[in-house]
Amino acid sequence: MRVGILGGGQLARMMVLAGTPLGLEFTVLDPAEDACAGVIAKQIHAAYDDEEALDRLANNCDLVTFEFENVPAAVAARLARHAPVFPPPQALATAQDRLLEKRLFDQLGIPVARYRAVDDLAALRQAAAELGLPAVLKTRTQGYDGKGQRVLRKEDELEAAWRELAGAPCILEAMIPFQREVSQIAVRDRHGEVRFYPLCENSHRHGILMTTRASPDDPLQGAARQHTRKLLESLHYVGVLALEFFVRDGELLANEFAPRVHNTGHWSIEGAISSQFENHLRAVTGLPLGETDARGPSAMVNLIGELPPSEALLALPGVHLHRYGKAPKPGRKIGHVGIQAPSSAELEARIRRVEAIIAGVGQAAA
Ligand SMILES: Nc1ncnc2c1ncn2[C@@H]1O[C@H](COP(=O)(O)OP(=O)(O)O)[C@@H](O)[C@H]1O
Ligand SMILES: [Mg+2]
Repeated sequence: MRVGILGGGQLARMMVLAGTPLGLEFTVLDPAEDACAGVIAKQIHAAYDDEEALDRLANNCDLVTFEFENVPAAVAARLARHAPVFPPPQALATAQDRLLEKRLFDQLGIPVARYRAVDDLAALRQAAAELGLPAVLKTRTQGYDGKGQRVLRKEDELEAAWRELAGAPCILEAMIPFQREVSQIAVRDRHGEVRFYPLCENSHRHGILMTTRASPDDPLQGAARQHTRKLLESLHYVGVLALEFFVRDGELLANEFAPRVHNTGHWSIEGAISSQFENHLRAVTGLPLGETDARGPSAMVNLIGELPPSEALLALPGVHLHRYGKAPKPGRKIGHVGIQAPSSAELEARIRRVEAIIAGVGQAAA
């Protein structure tokens, strides 16, 4: 079966790596000359709104899926003329607009931080007065890895923040003093069967994911699954989806969802019986889903900006290195390390050793 992927970054690359043993063939569409999935799959070099290229992708594939969600609705509609498209374009349209996303959570009874739509400076002042400060101003569309956001702590910061975000339509969200951040990754197949990965606990630095730990015994697992199931069913979803939460005083508050494979699921490549990439492909191609259980204590650490020497990382037990083949650049995700261990205590020890190696590279460069 031939699978088209819109986007040719590391998520597409890891899908190709997972789907090749299943006999799937891949074409990615990406404008970048050096798209890192283009090394191991066919690539159509074209802009995402190039209609001829979109038709070519869909005509040459049995179905089309996505590695990222910022796809204009017109693109998904164009693809859908010639091939089935999974996940459903409606899920992408909702996930790419923080206001629509929050309203859907509200509608489904999934708790969220208090928020207001903000379309001009006067509305921002009003929203800040209603929600109180600190609060987080986020552009409704195009944000990722903490980009397109400003934390507002004092009233005199509102105007500058509004200008920095170029007056784009925004939402203002109450700042949540969370104790933890977790994400639920789930997969739903074409017949409506849903499987859940263990809840993941995530830590971020400067708005960028650094570390994920699979947390199969998490007390919030049940609640996270209930919320995620509602979301998947309401969207008639097919494929892998990730739902991110803040944990405040033992309660889940939904932050955002991603209609795709997700960075907080990369541990599953070695750490779960079937990875999120394999299960996404099984779901969209109509194959039976694989087991989502963890094989044991598992974690993932991102490699951001620069790569430590492979030799140092691979000298550690239970470590797998994934280099994405991307040029190093500050703040860019260019690889990750999967870590497994026989016990939780040993997993923590191994994470610390990986982090020390990463910190060593940062110091050498500084
Ligand atoms: N309302 C909030 N309160 C506290 N922290 C927040 C809030 N919104 C975002 N953050 C922090 O910023 C990170 C990135 O924000 P997020 O909304 O997930 O955007 P994205 O992942 O698309 O960049 C979150 O994982 C969290 O650490
Ligand atoms: Mg996020």
